[in-house]
Amino acid sequence: MFQCLRPHLAKLALVNAVSVGIFSLLLAPALQAQYDSPGQLPEQSPEQFILALAVGIDQSSLTPRERLGLRIFFDSNLSEPAGTACASCHDPRRAFTGNNSTLIGVAQGSRSDQFGTRDAPTVMYQATAPRFSSNGGVEADGKRVPMGGLFWDGRADTLEEQAKQPFFNAVEMNNADTSALIAKVAKANYAAAFRQEWGGAIFDNPEAALDAVAASIAAFERTSVFQPFTSKFDYVMRGQAKFTEQEQRGLSLFTIRQKGNCAQCHTVDVASRDPQKSLFTDFSYRALGLPRSMRIPKNADPAFIDLGLCERVPVEGVKPAADIKPQVTAAKPPVTDPAACGLFKTPTLRNITITAPYMHNGFFDSLRDAVAFYATRDTDPVRWFPAGKKFNDLPSQYHANVDVDTPPYQRRPQQSPQLTEAEINDIEAFLYTLTDGYKPGRK
Ligand code: HEC
Ligand code: HEC
Repeated sequence: MFQCLRPHLAKLALVNAVSVGIFSLLLAPALQAQYDSPGQLPEQSPEQFILALAVGIDQSSLTPRERLGLRIFFDSNLSEPAGTACASCHDPRRAFTGNNSTLIGVAQGSRSDQFGTRDAPTVMYQATAPRFSSNGGVEADGKRVPMGGLFWDGRADTLEEQAKQPFFNAVEMNNADTSALIAKVAKANYAAAFRQEWGGAIFDNPEAALDAVAASIAAFERTSVFQPFTSKFDYVMRGQAKFTEQEQRGLSLFTIRQKGNCAQCHTVDVASRDPQKSLFTDFSYRALGLPRSMRIPKNADPAFIDLGLCERVPVEGVKPAADIKPQVTAAKPPVTDPAACGLFKTPTLRNITITAPYMHNGFFDSLRDAVAFYATRDTDPVRWFPAGKKFNDLPSQYHANVDVDTPPYQRRPQQSPQLTEAEINDIEAFLYTLTDGYKPGRK
């Protein structure tokens, strides 16, 4: 039924199956003529072209393990049924986001009638994320708060741990079990390279092979492909480019506490030449009180509520998301505090202009709307919530978790918005400087 929502675009980049799709999208006409059918693809690594063209990397700079990770990441044969790769939802042309080409704010899985409940975040700069800690963050008033981890709810601590999950998630790659996945890897055209890197007998032990798959992906994700620090912002910080007046105004509004106050959570250190200090997230968890997205198929059921951080374990009286399995172990205690309900991890804003849609539920298609929401959530709730009933994606017992006191949220209905239309434009102009691949010398 939701099939009609998918654009009739070639499915992404998928090395083993449909490389031709991305080739026709990306290759310069001359090259395209040379390789316009799968049979004519160059013998060695078509994916080299994909990434080189999409994100400008030189694959020869990768180690064998990182390169193996790249090939797994783009392999669309590792899903059940085949056709969905990590890159289907994490497309390098969109800073490794993409939702498998849906237009409903959340991703379609390998089975065409299956949809997730969260927007696929960027994989860029994820190697900078600290491990999850239930009290590792410190507020201005000294209060200790949860921070770190991967996924919107921080349920994985490392890239290795994260990488194992999508293969078996029924609404993502849907493999039945480890053996089923490893049998596919053992048949891949990089199986020999895999044995060379991980040992001749690696496929005899599926658990060890799964660890090796995850370690290869994580090695690739830790390369500069994912952490290039090549945005205009980075060049300006290094003294190699200048902001326009509007971008400069936008940065000020972004950081000034009584205006956008964005930097309170989307960390930026303008005094530092080290871009690592400006990751545009502090990895903290917050409840923004977003509108409920009726584009998400599972939201047709009013009992389905995505509670984020506290959903690592079921909360009494609230039905947990069936496809998001809590990953609770002795080493990783559950977050049972009701004050954690409705909180999601602050994402980086690096590359934000090419990673639409926005927020954990993919509610906003436009970046300007996402920024305008901050400015007018409390002064003009009718603009965002049906009949102006605020926070309609959270049961009322958790409304108190939504911040209504700190800028940009401290306004009340009838007051003027926290940011004017012109100021929102300025912030948006600044956000455009966060896209990687800037060429210094360009305006
Ligand atoms: C069908 C779409 C889909 C596929 C396929 C997929 N992902 Fe994701 N990915 C998502 C979604 C959705 C999330 C957020 C899920 C959540 O928070 O519960 C996510 C989260 C992530 C994150 C964490 C980002 C963050 O902000 O914490 C990483 C890293 C990642 N995926 C890597 C991968 C890798 C590696 C693969 C392949 C093994 C993969 N993904 C396959 C949709 C997908
Ligand atoms: C109190 C912390 C906090 C402040 C202040 C804050 N943000 Fe956020 N931001 C978040 C969190 C948390 C999310 C994710 C919320 C979710 O999806 O549930 C987010 C998400 C976003 C997103 C969507 C990112 C994506 O990848 O989907 C944008 C864009 C954004 N913020 C911009 C801003 C701007 C611009 C400001 C200032 C006007 C700002 N934020 C102020 C915490 C904050």
